[in-house]
Amino acid sequence: RTVYVFNGPNLSRLGTREPDVYGADTFDDLAALCRQTGRELGLTVDVRQTDDEAELVSWIHEAADGAIPVVLNPAAFTHYSYALRDAIAQRTAPLIEVHISNPASREEFRHTSVVASVATGTIAGFGLRSYELALRAIAEDGQ
Ligand code: DQA
Repeated sequence: RTVYVFNGPNLSRLGTREPDVYGADTFDDLAALCRQTGRELGLTVDVRQTDDEAELVSWIHEAADGAIPVVLNPAAFTHYSYALRDAIAQRTAPLIEVHISNPASREEFRHTSVVASVATGTIAGFGLRSYELALRAIAEDGQ
């Protein structure tokens, strides 16, 4: 089984970006963790990152067409992208919203997620482990 792990804007900057909030691990570390977790769970994990809303929307269309499960960190798009929300609403396979930090404990503008209501569920606040937990949830879903 294939699972997509999609990441939105600025997540390529992990490791140097606000390490007090997002930790010292890099995006490559994140990708390696996701692939390793996938191997343990028998999943092929395709990890991608983009700063471009249009590209992220097209990736969600691809997942919808293939009925492929998605772990998605929409990053700042979480808080305002209705285009991303509408793309997510079209798919049928599980889609888990993940966040490294806990947006509910941060600035007010991060308390709103426009995608949460169309996601299967949300995992936030566990650092890179949020992704690992989401991959486990997807793996167990199919058993
Ligand atoms: C984030 C939280 C968002 O509020 C922020 O815009 C990000 C990262 C997280 O993983 O904690 O870019 O999605």
